[in-house]
Amino acid sequence: MNNLLSEIEEKCRNCKKCSLAASRTNIVFSGGIPNNKLMLIGEAPGYWEDQKGEPFVGKAGQLLDKIFNCVGLSRQKDVYICNTIKCRPPENRNPLPDEKFACREYLDAQIEILKPRIILICGSVALDSMLPGKSGITKYRGQWFNGPYNSKMMPIFHPSYLLRNDSREKGSPKWLMWQDIKEIKRVYDEL
Ligand code: URA
Repeated sequence: MNNLLSEIEEKCRNCKKCSLAASRTNIVFSGGIPNNKLMLIGEAPGYWEDQKGEPFVGKAGQLLDKIFNCVGLSRQKDVYICNTIKCRPPENRNPLPDEKFACREYLDAQIEILKPRIILICGSVALDSMLPGKSGITKYRGQWFNGPYNSKMMPIFHPSYLLRNDSREKGSPKWLMWQDIKEIKRVYDEL
């Protein structure tokens, strides 16, 4: 499993299929731990991720870690983390369709190699990639969908969105995230 992932990562490191290759410092292939239970798919690397070659290392990443830790999960032990595209878009703009298309083979390979039982679709960019036609993260978060290789997929809010919405009141994005992570852990424990 790890050898296959390393091969794909090496291919990605040499990739020049879209224009982001010219502006990247590092590819951001994955973080966390390769496993067959839990994968999170984010959006795209930002400034710090591009610098370090690791996903979710900024403030959003710290919040993501806290959310997992709340239910006893951690990126060191339990979660494989990747993004819809592996190179940082300039100024952190949303990935363009041709960039997502060019990069899709790497995401598909990660899913095919690991065959995770649960895939968390983090934010609207990932939602558009994994469930095309279903737009609106607020509408679809917290629901289970059938995914590739018999997986269950759940869209969840992106931590950057939660950072912009501080309320913890019932019905707020943070409160909804808390419901979602508890449901995810419930299903995770049944695997
Ligand atoms: N946001 C993402 O979606 N992915 C990262 O790796 C960092 C921030």
